[in-house]
Amino acid sequence: MTPEQQSQKTRALCELAPVIPVLVVGDATRAEGLATALVAGGLPVLEVTLRTPAALQVIGEMSKVPGGHVGAGTVLTPDDAKRAKDAGASFAVSPGATERLVRACEDIGLPLLPGAVTASEVMRAMEMGFSMLKFFPAEAAGGAKSLKSLAGPLPQVSFCPTGGVTLQNAPDYLALPNVICVGGSWIAPDADVAAGDWAAIESRARDARTLR
Ligand code: 3PG
Repeated sequence: MTPEQQSQKTRALCELAPVIPVLVVGDATRAEGLATALVAGGLPVLEVTLRTPAALQVIGEMSKVPGGHVGAGTVLTPDDAKRAKDAGASFAVSPGATERLVRACEDIGLPLLPGAVTASEVMRAMEMGFSMLKFFPAEAAGGAKSLKSLAGPLPQVSFCPTGGVTLQNAPDYLALPNVICVGGSWIAPDADVAAGDWAAIESRARDARTLR
């Protein structure tokens, strides 16, 4: 799957809802309830970060939840991409982009949403064929103001800003012509996931859903 095709796919996913919840889940028994709450709240596209030993199992469990589209986040290496795909991930998100990672995703047919923040990084991703990128770390890299500046010279690229995005600042990003959706961990905080407070998470998802 070429980077052009990968970006078409990730763009279509990003268009499904204004927010992609970024999930760090340490306990696979929480996966089904968490994914069900998020989908019920109107956020069907989920990013499970590969930052816990349970992450691949979590991806597998969440992939069974009807209506959801489960991807792997924090995908750094070809091996991460392969393990994510084998676990059932339908897309991959990376904080950056390397040639090895891009080639691996192309080879195994896993749509990649690669990260970029500077004009040169965006141009390099464009050269590879990507037109849909993650803008990371969004707030630390200048926030909506920075992203708005990139739309001038690089209007053909769209973004999912992630990193420090909240319910409060999300509208600033979503108002930009080069933003399709945002990503953030605020929807499913650790405490609520650990407690299995699905009502609280579903309610936060509903609030996020109304952002656009
Ligand atoms: C991440 O990969 O950690 C995401 O960028 C989430 O960032 P956040 O916790 O600031 O929402």
